[in-house]
Amino acid sequence: MYSAISGLRTVRRYTGEPLSPEHLEAVLDAGRWTGSSKNRQGWAMVVFEGREELEGIASAGTFAVWVPDAAAAIALVKTPHGNDFDIGRLAQNLMLAADALGIGSCPITLHDQDRANEVIGLPDDHEARWAVVLGYADEREESEHRRQRSSTGMRGRVLLADIVHRRRFSR
Ligand SMILES: Cc1cc2nc3c(=O)[nH]c(=O)nc-3n(C[C@H](O)[C@H](O)[C@H](O)COP(=O)(O)O)c2cc1C
Repeated sequence: MYSAISGLRTVRRYTGEPLSPEHLEAVLDAGRWTGSSKNRQGWAMVVFEGREELEGIASAGTFAVWVPDAAAAIALVKTPHGNDFDIGRLAQNLMLAADALGIGSCPITLHDQDRANEVIGLPDDHEARWAVVLGYADEREESEHRRQRSSTGMRGRVLLADIVHRRRFSR
């Protein structure tokens, strides 16, 4: 049941193969269909492809050294009428669409906002705090990377019982 959701995990190890133009277009189009507050669609997507462009966008992140090995990144731009909730929905739609096409993905945070603005060329009233990185997974490298992360305690999800409350929040 809804395995696309429960099976969606981040991918940070890629084959280096570029995304096919059809796949990239389909992922972007899934983003376009995202629902938004008052249907304002207060977003834009800026695509970076290839090592050189990816090095540029990665330089705005703190945990993004692996990004230049990916195939593409989509910077999620919030326009003046946008909001962060909608940007989160946009990101998840891009990731689910990518997964359906056999493309791995991982969100990244653009911690250095001045740098992100410069790389993306954003007007003052636009903001891009996150990007979604895409690429075909190198399955062997990815499972080794995941095994290493698991051994440091970064794995899975908390139990439903730990996050669901009835009637009132309780500690
Ligand atoms: C808003 C947001 C920002 C993130 N930023 C980064 C990042 O800068 N670098 C990174 O490697 N992963 C980043 N991640 C990925 C998270 O580490 C990942 O979603 C989390 O560890 C769960 O991974 P899993 O789905 O593979 O279990 C980010 C995720 C979200 C939702």
